[in-house]
Amino acid sequence: MQKLWGGRFTKSTDSFTDHFHSSIGFDSRMYHEDITGSMAHAQMLGKQNIIPQEDADIIVKTLGEILEDIDAGKISFDEKAEDIHMNIETILISRIGDVGKRLHTGRSRNDQVALDTRMYTKKEITEIQKLVKNLMQELNTLAAAHTETILPGYTHLQRAQPVTLAHHLLAYLEMFKRDYARLSDTYKRTDVLPLGSGALATTTYPLDRFFVAKKLGFAEISANSMDAVSDRDFCVELVSALSIMMMHLSRFCEELILWSSHEFHFIELDDAYSTGSSIMPQKKNPDMAELIRGKSGRVYGHLMGLLTTLKGLPLAYNKDMQEDKEGLFDAIDTVKMCLPVFTNMIATMTVQKDAMLQAAKGGFTNATDAADWLVKQGVAFRDAHSIIGRLVLYCIEHQTNLDDLSLAEYRAISPVFDETVYEAIGVKQCVEARNVIGGPAKAATEQAIAQNQAYLSALM
Ligand code: ARG
Repeated sequence: MQKLWGGRFTKSTDSFTDHFHSSIGFDSRMYHEDITGSMAHAQMLGKQNIIPQEDADIIVKTLGEILEDIDAGKISFDEKAEDIHMNIETILISRIGDVGKRLHTGRSRNDQVALDTRMYTKKEITEIQKLVKNLMQELNTLAAAHTETILPGYTHLQRAQPVTLAHHLLAYLEMFKRDYARLSDTYKRTDVLPLGSGALATTTYPLDRFFVAKKLGFAEISANSMDAVSDRDFCVELVSALSIMMMHLSRFCEELILWSSHEFHFIELDDAYSTGSSIMPQKKNPDMAELIRGKSGRVYGHLMGLLTTLKGLPLAYNKDMQEDKEGLFDAIDTVKMCLPVFTNMIATMTVQKDAMLQAAKGGFTNATDAADWLVKQGVAFRDAHSIIGRLVLYCIEHQTNLDDLSLAEYRAISPVFDETVYEAIGVKQCVEARNVIGGPAKAATEQAIAQNQAYLSALM
C-alpha cells in the first residue's frame, strides 16, 4: 500500500514499524470527530473557493456515507494507514479518487489530531458531568432521608463528635460539586478550535476559521499555531480533574468498605454490589467499592504518564504526543464506569441506623459538649477540658459512659455539675446544638439540602 506521504520515500516501512507506530488501534474511537471535522473543513474550502464547490459537496456527501458505514460496522480499518485521520482519507480517496485528494488542502494531521482530540474530550466532559450530577442527586436524596440518623464523626479514625449520616454524605456532595466545577472549567479551555494551525505555522490559504469554529461548535479559535498543535494541557487538565474526582470516590469507597465490615456494621451493601468468596461460604465482600478505590491508581498513573510524555518536548508537534491518547481514553473510560457503579451502590445500600447510633453513644463523642456545658457555667475551657478528661478516665476505669454516671460521681470531680448536664450531653442534643451554617443540626442540614437541590436543578 502506497502511503499518503510516500512521495519522498523509496522503500516502504518495515511491517513491524507499521505496527509499532500505528495508532488506529486506539484512535479509531475518534472517527466521528474526525469525519465531522473534515466535513466542516471541506465546506469551508468550498465556500472560500480554495477548492471547487462541487468537489467540496462530493467530499462532504461521501464523508457522510463513510460515517454511516462505520456506524453500521461495515468498515474495518487498516493498520498500515497508521491512524484514524489517514484511514478516513484513504477510504475517501478510494471512493471518489482525485476529488478526495483535495480534502487535506490547508490542513495538517497536526492540527487535525488536535481538533479531533479536543472535540472528543469536550463530548466526554459533558458525559462525565451528567454522571457526576446523578451521583450528587443521589447523595442529596439520601441525605434528605438521613437528617436524623446519628453516627460518630471521626478524626484519626477515633470517634470524635456525633454527626448525622446526612451531614457525612453532604460533605462528599461538596467535593463532587467542586469536581463538577473543575470539569466545567476544563471544558472552557478545551473549547478552542486548533484547525487552521497547519503543521505548525498556519497556511497560505485564505481559510475561514470562524466558519469552521461555528460549524463545529467551538467557542473560540486558537491564537497561536505553534501552541495549538503542540500543547495537550487540556488533556492534562481533564485527567487531573478526573484524578481528584477518583481520589474523592476512593475515600468514600474506603469508608463504605470499613462501614460494611463486621466491626462497624454501619451499612450493608446490596447483593448486586457485593461478591462471595470461592472458599469461605460466609463472605460478602465489597468488591465494587474496592475496585473503584483501586482504579484511582490507574487514573493517577495516566496523569503522571501524560505529564512525563510532554515534559521534554520541543515545539511544535512531536510523535511522542501520540502517546497522549491511551491514557486519556482509559482515564475517561474508568471514571465513566466507576461513577454509575458507585451511585447505584450507595442508592441500594442498607443503613443500620441502630449500629450507627450505638457507636455514636459510645466512645465519649459527647465529651466536648460536656466541657462546653461547664464553660457555660463559667468554667474556663482549659479547666473544663481537664475536668472532663478526668471524668473520661474514670469512665474508662469503670467501663461506663458519661451519660451513665451518677450526679454524685460527677460532683466528686467538680461541684459545678448539676442534673442539666445530662440533657446537654445526649447525642441528639450534641447534634442539634450545632445549628449553624455548615453544621449537622437538622435545620441546618435541611437548608443545605434545599440549596443543593436548587444548584442541581440549575445544572445543564
Ligand atoms: N496519530 C498522530 C497522533 O496521534 C496524528 C498526528 C501525526 N502527525 C504527524 N506529523 N505524524 O498524534
